Amino acid sequence: MNAIEITAFGAPDVLRVAQRPVPVPGPGELLIRVVASGVNRPDVLQRTGNYPVPAGASDIPGLEVAGVVEGGDALAMAQAGFQVGDRVCALVAGGGYAQMCVAPVAQCLPIPAGLSDVEAASLPETFFTVWSNVFDRGCLQKGETLLVQGGTSGIGVTAIQMAKAMGATVLATAGSDEKCAACLALGADHAINYNSRDFAEAVQNITGGAGVDVILDMVAGGYVAREVQCLAEDGRLVIIAVQGGVKSEINAGLVLRKRLTITGSTLRARSVAFKGAIAQALKLHVWPLLENRSIKPVIHGVFAADGGQESSGAAQAHALMESGRHVGKIVLTW
Ligand SMILES: NC(=O)c1ccc[n+]([C@@H]2O[C@H](COP(=O)([O-])OP(=O)(O)OC[C@H]3O[C@@H](n4cnc5c(N)ncnc54)[C@H](OP(=O)(O)O)[C@@H]3O)[C@@H](O)[C@H]2O)c1
Repeated sequence: MNAIEITAFGAPDVLRVAQRPVPVPGPGELLIRVVASGVNRPDVLQRTGNYPVPAGASDIPGLEVAGVVEGGDALAMAQAGFQVGDRVCALVAGGGYAQMCVAPVAQCLPIPAGLSDVEAASLPETFFTVWSNVFDRGCLQKGETLLVQGGTSGIGVTAIQMAKAMGATVLATAGSDEKCAACLALGADHAINYNSRDFAEAVQNITGGAGVDVILDMVAGGYVAREVQCLAEDGRLVIIAVQGGVKSEINAGLVLRKRLTITGSTLRARSVAFKGAIAQALKLHVWPLLENRSIKPVIHGVFAADGGQESSGAAQAHALMESGRHVGKIVLTW
């Protein structure tokens, strides 16, 4: 099969098309003929040498795929209700940028009715991450207020739509007025251009000084002190990335006076059982919202993964992601 390899850590052109053996599904796994592979920022970090592959995972990048079931562990498939020929999308710990990919049955979901393979491939990584962090860890409730940092990221467009669909008020930050407009078009109630306004001050103005109940943060660093300031009483800060650095100096007095919770997580290295539980929650609570189009995949760009050439569309996809011009997701097709 064709796959995209990281030939050395570096710029996007280190991503090259290579021939690899078709992976063999083990117990509890199935084999997917991949039609589309989602691209995520963690793939860029892996390519630049800043995100080691977890033990046991494929060195081929790619954390999500959509395609057709080719075979696998018959018992596990039967128990989960999957058959050869079914259209599925899956969260994987690696190996997604390839024509064939193995996935734990527990991390596979049927493609929501009405969605294309490209749309389905854009779902697993951000939907699993947002569910786990905003709703499980952050405990966002109907009627509460969520601040999403990076509202037009793949994660952000998912968080805005999911939180709105669940009845929350949503504030989002983005780095330009155009991206702020995109956040509002996706349903955010307020958008803050973090380059022209201090987001913490803006949050206090918008909420009349009450602050927000939950913050989904992908920046950390100097943001954490300001996030502690603009959280409401009993507020929850959930950190999922440290693009602004790992160190922060916070006013610990505010943490106890407002009874704040500061937490965070990474998804990739978690167990199959953990990810399987998220898959079940998504199937129950979120897949119906995709099927009735209350939540829509946001696809910014689609690239042919191998393009029939040695230099791959994956390189163009990564260059686009690093340019920061995208709104929503970038997807590769096979
Ligand atoms: N913990 C986990 O399990 C997990 C899982 C998946 C992803 N992630 C992380 O989540 C982040 C988003 O992933 P993605 O694939 O959606 O990436 P992406 O589409 O490339 O988005 C990156 C986002 O970061 C925003 N950003 C950068 N600096 C910012 C700042 N100072 N203030 C506000 N926003 C800022 C950018 O906003 P502008 O373009 O508006 O500047 C952009 O929207 C990445 O850092 C990724 O590593 C974590």
